[in-house]
Amino acid sequence: MMDAGSISAADITESVIRRFDGCRDPRLREIMQAFVAHLHGFITEVGLTPEEWTAAIRTLTATGEITDARRQEFILWSDTLGVSMLVDALANPLPAGATESTVLGPFYVPGSPLRAYGESMLVEGSTGTPAWVHGRVLDTTGQPIAGAELDLWQNDADMLYAVQKQEGPEDHLRGRYRTREDGSFAFIAVRPVPYPIPDDGPVGRMLDATGRHPWRPAHIHAVIRAPGYRSVVTHLFDQESEYLDTDTVFAVKPSLLRKFEERSAEDPERPEGIAGEWVSLESDIVLVAGEGGAPIVDPGRTA
Ligand code: BEZ
Ligand code: FE
Repeated sequence: MMDAGSISAADITESVIRRFDGCRDPRLREIMQAFVAHLHGFITEVGLTPEEWTAAIRTLTATGEITDARRQEFILWSDTLGVSMLVDALANPLPAGATESTVLGPFYVPGSPLRAYGESMLVEGSTGTPAWVHGRVLDTTGQPIAGAELDLWQNDADMLYAVQKQEGPEDHLRGRYRTREDGSFAFIAVRPVPYPIPDDGPVGRMLDATGRHPWRPAHIHAVIRAPGYRSVVTHLFDQESEYLDTDTVFAVKPSLLRKFEERSAEDPERPEGIAGEWVSLESDIVLVAGEGGAPIVDPGRTA
């Protein structure tokens, strides 16, 4: 029997939480009850009006409508609200010295071509500065890991990833490389440039309305996997890039900043396959023994 008195906001919250008491899966019960408590707490705290709630529902609807196999607006919300980085931080505490993880982003496509040591990831011409990127994959004791795989992707001087372009070779600036016996890897890329995340949808409107910019600092993406080690999803950031302090997806970690050394055309170390001025970047990757690691979440493309 219900009491005859009026029902308060707190009563509503409490009765919704109690409705999940019978959930047989204890983890699902915990998640749903905490979700309701925080959602109601947030709405109560800001005194959300009916007009604001309608606007929120329109925003969620627009998010669904713009999402398809090539565009994942829900992940953009997760990224720009710092949720992707928070979930990763909770799931992937790493010992000191191990290469830190960061966001995957929406432009990862599995199945990049396997390329040889030192091979270029460029499939078409580029106006970007050629970059020689090299290093070793090591374990936390400094021992090399042979046969580790680096799965790499980055943008070109036009700020775009190959997957964002309707025309053009889909494998441009993407590639997988295996480390040699001494753990070494090398590839030719171009110096990446800062770019705005897709901002022509609801997330872009949120950034604009709140006075935030959509830019990310320049970086190369990498997923590094090796049998017997935790895989890591990470970036190599250009330490001279703009937007390192205000990355719109909160993905910069100081340990991931790297120096691109400027080199002249006459530099005797200029690798074959590079002409004119170039840059070099040396970066070791340190993996932690174990299994698993950051899962590759790709709901947009596997649905
Ligand atoms: C990216 O780095 O590719 C990215 C990450 C999060 C949102 C958009 C793009
Ligand atoms: Fe990126």
